[in-house]
Amino acid sequence: MACSFLIYGASGDLTRRKLIPALYQLHRKARLPRDTHIVGLSRTDMTDDDWRVMLAESTAQFARDGFDQNSWDEFAKLVHYRSTDITDADDFCRIDRAVAEIESSQNADRVYYLSTSPKLYETAVANLGYANMADESNGKRRIVIEKPFGTDLASSQQLNKSLHSVFREDQVYRIDHYLGKETVQNMFVLRFANSIFEPIWNRNYVDHIQITVAEEVTVGTRAGYYDTSGVLRDMIQNHLFQLLMITAMEAPAKYNAEYVRNEKVKVLQAVRPIGVEEICSQTVRGQYDGYLDEPDVPSGSQTATFAAMRLWIDNWRWQGVPFYLRSGKGMSCRTTQIVVQFRDPPHLLFGKDDRRNSLSNRLVIQIQPAEGIQLHFQTKVPDAGMQVRMTDLDFSFTREFQGSMPEAYERLLLDAAEGDASLFARSDEVELAWKIVDPIIDAWQTPNAPPLETYPTGLWGPEKCNEWMQSHDREWFDVCPILR
Ligand code: BG6
Repeated sequence: MACSFLIYGASGDLTRRKLIPALYQLHRKARLPRDTHIVGLSRTDMTDDDWRVMLAESTAQFARDGFDQNSWDEFAKLVHYRSTDITDADDFCRIDRAVAEIESSQNADRVYYLSTSPKLYETAVANLGYANMADESNGKRRIVIEKPFGTDLASSQQLNKSLHSVFREDQVYRIDHYLGKETVQNMFVLRFANSIFEPIWNRNYVDHIQITVAEEVTVGTRAGYYDTSGVLRDMIQNHLFQLLMITAMEAPAKYNAEYVRNEKVKVLQAVRPIGVEEICSQTVRGQYDGYLDEPDVPSGSQTATFAAMRLWIDNWRWQGVPFYLRSGKGMSCRTTQIVVQFRDPPHLLFGKDDRRNSLSNRLVIQIQPAEGIQLHFQTKVPDAGMQVRMTDLDFSFTREFQGSMPEAYERLLLDAAEGDASLFARSDEVELAWKIVDPIIDAWQTPNAPPLETYPTGLWGPEKCNEWMQSHDREWFDVCPILR
């Protein structure tokens, strides 16, 4: 089936850096649906050729697997541009006709990609409805939106209501780019295509789970957005919760959007809410030293750039197993990892009876940038006696598979075109995530809030966070991955 991608916000950063390079890459791999057209839409007055020239430059800069002039010339023929005013409902009717003229067949699926400011989502959706552009008489109609999906439960409900007044839920594709990462998808395979992990993936064998998304970068020039968002809205409510759901969910009966997302939602339903009275014992918050000097940060800002929390999942599999989530900017290195820390052996025969959990088995799932998995286990040190040492089995994606890892957007754009929503967030998932995060955001505004710890950049966040972990007789797995 022919497919048209209509990108609202065509002159924006996301379009140049991610969307067009991903579509170009898909074209090179011959993965785009036949008769694909890409129509850029924004207010700027430009011709098709103006836009193509701009995109050639940015794609050469951002395409992951390089730039080839011949394949670009072919790809550029698929690219069109129309200027439009997203707030003008009648203009949508004009664009609808213009796109129909570009489309070579009468029947073509369409993906409406809102790569605009989230403030414009509801207007754009209403105008798509006004122009009858969700109507599926001539092909499927899907809408893709980027996070943030609201800034709290009430606003996300409002956004979902607006979306559902024009589109059915199965036409809505909410992007969380973490789900487009190969290693995140591999979590499904690791857990549900192998039989050896499942029997031990529960409270009987797992002591706790750590999910860390550490970024070396600081907020830089993004404070205009970031200061009102902070780490809870920017990272935890979406990316870390996605990792949490996939780590903790039950196996779906089938791998499809409905079944997978049903299981993910059940995880969030089982997360025990954090009450205001336990906010200090369950969360740590921090701000890196120097944040207040970043451009556009209001003086005295209390925005957290680091958060750690302990969540409990009240179901049979995970009762009593804490999930530690942590994310921050200005950290030691860029690493996203899920650590499954297994329990101590019940009786220690070798070595000192030193029950620090760093001596027990551990599965380290490296989501990025050193994509891979390590299983840590004790081994006898060769020589006299029975001295033991932690060693590991080490799997690396780049060592095992040729070529670089595809960009998340390649997979997600293709899935949206093909109508596979497995790797997109559903409305109930998003609302449940806000239900968990909102009380923390609120409690952090009260006198009961944990102190906002200042931490130096280049380390693993506030020292307080390590002490907090140690007070639970546990330690963070603070290891920067080795890039091979
Ligand atoms: C975005 C956040 O969603 O994810 C950014 O807004 C963050 O603040 C980014 O830097 C991290 O994505 P990745 O893919 O680099 O881990």
